Amino acid sequence: MGYRILAIETSCDETAAAVVADRRVESNIIASQFVHQQWGGIVPELASRAHVEQIWSVVRIALDDAAATCDRLDAVACTTQPGLGGSLLVGANFAKGFALRYRLPCVPVHHLEGHLLSGFLAVPNLPLPAIVLVASGGHTLLCVLETTERYRVLGSTRDDAAGEAFDKTATLLGLAYPGGPAIECLARQGIPTVRFPRPLLDREGYEFSFSGLKTAVRRYLAEHPIENERQRADLAASVQEAIVDVLVRKTIRAATEYDVEAIVIAGGVAANARLQERMRAAATQIGASVIVPDREYVLDNAAMIGLVAHLKLELHGTDRYRRFDFVVDPTPWRMYRHGTAKNARYDAMVFSL
Ligand code: KG4
Ligand code: ZN
Repeated sequence: MGYRILAIETSCDETAAAVVADRRVESNIIASQFVHQQWGGIVPELASRAHVEQIWSVVRIALDDAAATCDRLDAVACTTQPGLGGSLLVGANFAKGFALRYRLPCVPVHHLEGHLLSGFLAVPNLPLPAIVLVASGGHTLLCVLETTERYRVLGSTRDDAAGEAFDKTATLLGLAYPGGPAIECLARQGIPTVRFPRPLLDREGYEFSFSGLKTAVRRYLAEHPIENERQRADLAASVQEAIVDVLVRKTIRAATEYDVEAIVIAGGVAANARLQERMRAAATQIGASVIVPDREYVLDNAAMIGLVAHLKLELHGTDRYRRFDFVVDPTPWRMYRHGTAKNARYDAMVFSL
């Protein structure tokens, strides 16, 4: 049975709403918050306030764009975790209020499940199993997607996320927030002359670690202060190459081990053209293809939240989503490690679908 869903995403600094029907996107509206740029990073209180100011207009435009009236919706969905507490609350409470007003079920969605399944927005019949790399500002996860409801997390980051590594090193290089696009833009004019460390690259398993990169860049700058724009561009290219190298090599290793036809890259960092180019070149070598959702579905958006809600409704029906008893949970997702370092075991499936 098909559902028409109004989805809302406010976990970080984008106020987003979308209408998704039968897994197809009818509208996808994203209002980015530029207020944070002057502070060099996201200021949580400013983010929640901006969500409060924008949410109703964003929802209204999403409904208008889809020519959807409130009485022709089957459900509302919202991101409930993880993210900034205040920001999540704005979206979740708006969604609950809207759903109560129009007597609709309200589906809570894990933000990372949105990124994880966003490949279906690009290729509805994505060949499974697939390897999915989710690389965003808060998380870096490598997963094997077995069916739409079954996926295993193979590894995540021990410390900083890939996007965070871009953002923090960009600040050290004197670039504006968000650092990922700034580094990518500058790196086009440079060459990777400095070999920064690639932690855990040759280690077994699929864990990442990016915090050493910012320390290495800081140390390098202490000894070699930037004297001209050419050097800054070369450093940007060097940082980008170090991050991309690790992401590509671990992803390709997983794709080989699980013998998949398709690799999906998702989350904000997937917008990086160098990552896409190198992932495609490496995937060709192993006979796999790389799927990158359109930019509007790669960065934070509500269409991916609507898609997950649709899958949940198909799986469970609407009744369990009429209770409205869910709460928001800002805690970042972490892999829980058991056992000794030599004999480690990880909780593999921890999401909610
Ligand atoms: O998925 P996303 O929009 O929000 C989170 O869930 O975090 O990801 C934002 C992150 C930021 O760290 C940003 O610097 C990074 O994605 N990013 C990029 C690019 N565009 C955004 N990183 C590298 N290259 C890009 N072009
Ligand atoms: Zn995200």
